[in-house]
Amino acid sequence: MAQHFEIRPLPGPLGAEVIGLDLTRELDAKDFAAIHRAHLDHHVLVFRAQHIQPEHQIRISKRFGPLQIHVLKDFQLPGYPEILRVSNIKEHGKPIGLGDAGVFWHSDLSYLVTPSLGSMLHAQELPSVGGDTLFANQHLAWETLPEELKARVADLQAEHSYLTQYETLRERSPWRPKLSQAQIDAVPPVAHPVVRTHPETGRKALFVSEHFTSRILGVSPDESDALLKVLFAHTTKSELVYRHQWQDHDMVFWDNRSVTHLAAGTPDHLRRKLYRTTIEGNVPY
Ligand code: OGA
Ligand code: MN
Repeated sequence: MAQHFEIRPLPGPLGAEVIGLDLTRELDAKDFAAIHRAHLDHHVLVFRAQHIQPEHQIRISKRFGPLQIHVLKDFQLPGYPEILRVSNIKEHGKPIGLGDAGVFWHSDLSYLVTPSLGSMLHAQELPSVGGDTLFANQHLAWETLPEELKARVADLQAEHSYLTQYETLRERSPWRPKLSQAQIDAVPPVAHPVVRTHPETGRKALFVSEHFTSRILGVSPDESDALLKVLFAHTTKSELVYRHQWQDHDMVFWDNRSVTHLAAGTPDHLRRKLYRTTIEGNVPY
């Protein structure tokens, strides 16, 4: 049965709230189409007041595509390998989830041959201060790039690697286990276009970010460093950014083909826990 709900665009460069939709109920074809359309138009949807269980999150996620299982198996929700716990909480001295997800700008799983279409993050426990998530519109990033830079990067490829910032993160984080050779072998570097085309809307977007992009291919190391520095600064300019301040029971669904995102950080003494599902996308072109 169709539900009554409203899609309210947020002021700023991206994002819309979805008010009055209940994701414990299975969406009919018409409601699903409206949500799908809104996701393509706004890139980040904020579903308010979702009193859902893992089953519901997995079900709505699967409507958009197959789900991807994260390389760090320790942080799966027990019984639900499709759910990655994003949390700074420790139980019996052990982290229950990935606590430093998103401390560098990134698009989820861009280090895979088939990066993520989008990710859903459902708030379980929120800190009284901090814990915001920032999203930057990469279609606007492309469109506002100076013409000479557009021409320079339009046909370039960049390397993405899970390991790009891993050792940097390990130095300051209890969440990054030393990787086994098997884990390293599971995430070899891949090449993706610097400018990708959204497979559903045809819009172009910049597709480089600090967390996983290691170098521009086919240019000297110096030129690669210089280009990436300019691109990273451009892609995260404040005019492109929506800052999400989490409310209880928010479920946020972003399009990894259209936006990059960043965790603003949570004070160590405050608890934060969210559940993530990650939907598989296409090979970027
Ligand atoms: C993620 C992520 C950011 C945050 O879960 O993919 O980047 O604010 N999270 O938790
Ligand atoms: Mn992420």
